[in-house]
Amino acid sequence: MAVIEIKDLRYSFGQGETRQEVLHGITADFSRGEITIIAGPSGSGKTTLLKLIAGLRTIQTGSIVIDGQALESSTQKQLVAVRRKIGFIFQSHHLIGSLDVTQNVMMPLTFDPKMTASKAKERALEILHEVDLSEHVNKKPEQLSGGQKQRVAIARALVHRPTIILADEPTASLDGPTGREVVNHLQRLSKEFGNTIVMVTHDNRILDVADHLVTLVDGKLSENAPEVGSDF
Ligand SMILES: Nc1ncnc2c1ncn2[C@@H]1O[C@H](COP(=O)(O)OP(=O)(O)OP(=O)(O)O)[C@@H](O)[C@H]1O
Ligand SMILES: [Mg+2]
Repeated sequence: MAVIEIKDLRYSFGQGETRQEVLHGITADFSRGEITIIAGPSGSGKTTLLKLIAGLRTIQTGSIVIDGQALESSTQKQLVAVRRKIGFIFQSHHLIGSLDVTQNVMMPLTFDPKMTASKAKERALEILHEVDLSEHVNKKPEQLSGGQKQRVAIARALVHRPTIILADEPTASLDGPTGREVVNHLQRLSKEFGNTIVMVTHDNRILDVADHLVTLVDGKLSENAPEVGSDF
């Protein structure tokens, strides 16, 4: 069953003469319990596509339907409800330097009116344990390694138990074994809990976790796997 349905999606940056179309009519379905990997060279539109799916950019032309809800015709309230289903792991981790690790991970829960502070903290500590950061929960981001920071960002994206996870280069700053742990965790979420995962990566070492592999080149999506030896 397709959880994410994209149809004839186009997107441009800029106005007038500087207007530049970066997505040229994307059509794709992403299914429940599957990991889709989007590979493609730098500047091909991968982050733009993920942000449109997450409702972080406004759709200009075409359609994205998430769990039956069309984003392009959603009210603000409906968009908020869709965003609650989504965990977004950004290309750069965007941790807040003045907050400690636990507070960073609790952030998304503070928007949930039903969540008390103590419950949010308990949930944050639980997920930090899952990503093996229990020893670091009181540290500030600057006291962590790149890989640890990335795992904090992953914990923050997963703390509200999203059914859809969008991950933009989640292993880019990690060494091989740490990157593998991260994708193994994502794979477990898809297989055990049926999470729908769409992951952008340049990292050839993790392509094997994909149930569905697509490439985005010059704003066009194709079902072909990247050629062996290509550097994305
Ligand atoms: N905010 C913006 N304003 C104008 N142009 C933008 C903006 N963000 C991205 N672009 C342009 O849109 C195109 C696609 O960018 P995007 O960030 O989606 O690429 P990407 O595939 O994620 O690249 P990378 O692998 O380097 O992260 C690029 O040509 C980029 O310069
Ligand atoms: Mg990008």
